Amino acid sequence: MAIPALPHFLDIESMSAEQFGGLLRLAEELKHARARLGRNAPILSGKSLAMIFEKPSLRTRVSFEMGMQQLGGHALYISPQEVGLGSRESAPDVARVLSGYVDGIMARVFDHHHLLDMAAWGTVPVINGLSDFSHPCQALADLLTIWEQIGQLAGLTLVYVGDGSNNVATSLLMAAGKVGMSMRVIAPRGYQPEPALLAGTDADVIVTDDLDGVVGADVLYTDVWTSMGQEAEREARLGVFPPYQLNQALVARTRNPGVRVMHCLPAHRGEEITDDVADGSQSLLFPQAHNRLHAQKAILAHLLGGVPLA
Ligand code: CP
Ligand code: NVA
Repeated sequence: MAIPALPHFLDIESMSAEQFGGLLRLAEELKHARARLGRNAPILSGKSLAMIFEKPSLRTRVSFEMGMQQLGGHALYISPQEVGLGSRESAPDVARVLSGYVDGIMARVFDHHHLLDMAAWGTVPVINGLSDFSHPCQALADLLTIWEQIGQLAGLTLVYVGDGSNNVATSLLMAAGKVGMSMRVIAPRGYQPEPALLAGTDADVIVTDDLDGVVGADVLYTDVWTSMGQEAEREARLGVFPPYQLNQALVARTRNPGVRVMHCLPAHRGEEITDDVADGSQSLLFPQAHNRLHAQKAILAHLLGGVPLA
């Protein structure tokens, strides 16, 4: 039976395991087609994507723009000053206006509700390019990377160390549940995932503040201690998180010589991750950043180009 099409790419919890797996397979297929032929078919010829950014970006901005270009379409960058989402103009009005100009909207927002409003009021697909709540594009690229590098997803244990309540941790928790991966979140109290969130994932999850939770990890993952929008909390967070740094001692504590290390980037080197680990032989930091391109292309080909999931 055909896998139902996704109307938007807002969050992983709202998609089925088949849909999430279909996107992973499409990303892999597009990546291999480009490597083999030097190009992709112009699936998005004549199509355009508006990209609204309320926060800075390197990877998300460039990979979506290049992804559109490589599929034959066009991307338009809209800077934080231009839109004034929710201040100059409401999110529903922005979405209704843009729906008359473009074939899709990708937005990076402070308030996740603005994404939900745009999806509800616009008539084109809306893609979450990171919100205060989640970062599903990142999780798709991350699982593509693990799948490529280790050769499987089901049965693996991903251990996330650091701010377990942030957008990246949330999306990894949801993604793990779609592919049969277990997750452990090692975070100080006050920075652990909300119980309601844990109820929303199908993954087998352990949450603890005990660093011995890294034993047996297949993947060790971390992210910044202070996310964009939380800058006022930076000093307080710097007082809490240092024991959770991803360094050589923590890697050794996994007792798995083959453990891989991941970070969504940008990194605050010397804070949540040390240089020797970020640049070491177990690091997947750059393959995972590069896979953002292929993951975005799968999302775009499906949502804007109607390529079915299989
Ligand atoms: N990982 C990630 O989303 O990077 P950017 O903030 O640079 O887009
Ligand atoms: N948690 C980070 C991720 C950046 C890609 C942030 O939101 O700033």
